[in-house]
Amino acid sequence: MPYVKTKQILEKAHNENYAVGAFNVNDLEFVQAIIKAAVLENSPAIIEVSEGALKYAGDGDVERGAFVLASMVKHFAETVSVPIALHLDHGHDLKHIMAAIKAGFGSVMIDASDKPFEENMRITRQIVEIAHAAGVAVEAELGRLMGVEDNVVSAESVLVHPDEAKEFVTQTQVDFLAPAVGTSHGAFKFKGEAKIDYDRIAAVKELTQIPLVLHGASGVPGKWVELAEKYGADLSGAKGVPDEVLQTAISKGINKVNMDTDLRIAFVAGLRKHLAENPKEFDPRKYFSEAKDFVTEVVRDRMRVLGSAGKA
Ligand code: G3H
Ligand code: 13P
Ligand code: ZN
Repeated sequence: MPYVKTKQILEKAHNENYAVGAFNVNDLEFVQAIIKAAVLENSPAIIEVSEGALKYAGDGDVERGAFVLASMVKHFAETVSVPIALHLDHGHDLKHIMAAIKAGFGSVMIDASDKPFEENMRITRQIVEIAHAAGVAVEAELGRLMGVEDNVVSAESVLVHPDEAKEFVTQTQVDFLAPAVGTSHGAFKFKGEAKIDYDRIAAVKELTQIPLVLHGASGVPGKWVELAEKYGADLSGAKGVPDEVLQTAISKGINKVNMDTDLRIAFVAGLRKHLAENPKEFDPRKYFSEAKDFVTEVVRDRMRVLGSAGKA
């Protein structure tokens, strides 16, 4: 197998009611760590790349970055027996989306969620036409992710409206939808109790019947935060989406769960630990290896929580 299309992975998850992790990468080490975790857990995995990651991997040239990352992912995927897909995360303009399509990504996200509803719909429709002509699936976002300062009073204005979601999916023919339901990006998600609007997820699923995506879904597990802090990191106030909240969201219809922060924290914990314990070490293969092993461990744990373990 198995460099596969994102749609193949997500349709199975949608039909069988579980979720697959979409893990962000910028470099070789994260690609290796995620694919290793997928093999060990016999799980499908989606590897995703932000616009910033395209720029980083291409040393400033996004087209080069798309080819470098796609080549790496394809070659690794072809040597394992679990399905691996590649996705462009938060595409904002045609340049990045075309770079991903040309490089062979299986899906792209068009994120026009900061635009008014009608404009988001128009932009998304255009991208769907271009991407579908190339056999590439499209994810779009409706509503806005919460900022840590947002609260229930402002929630109505930022969260997805299920009736709009239905119209949006019908008009755009988008393949996957990310409805804003209360999460936010990064390591500092909730001031108080973690809250996600489960009813909104269920209503959107009922009305759209397509795979739904949860952004800002890192759990920020205490184990990794504490380890990073033991070796000098300052992550005070870090808070993620608890496992049981994630699992309830999945039971309501989430099939793609985006995580970047968890991998970053595990990596930095491993790197700090290794460097602190081995002050004479300067071989990157040594300090990256421990960091990479921690990324594999956190990804394996996430695969079990999401229910994708054993589903390859
Ligand atoms: O959703 C954002 C992802 O965590 C990617 O972040 O834009 O810093 O690469 P980035
Ligand atoms: P986290 O910041 O919670 O890891 O979310 C990542 C994400 O949504 C990427 O699109
Ligand atoms: Zn996101």
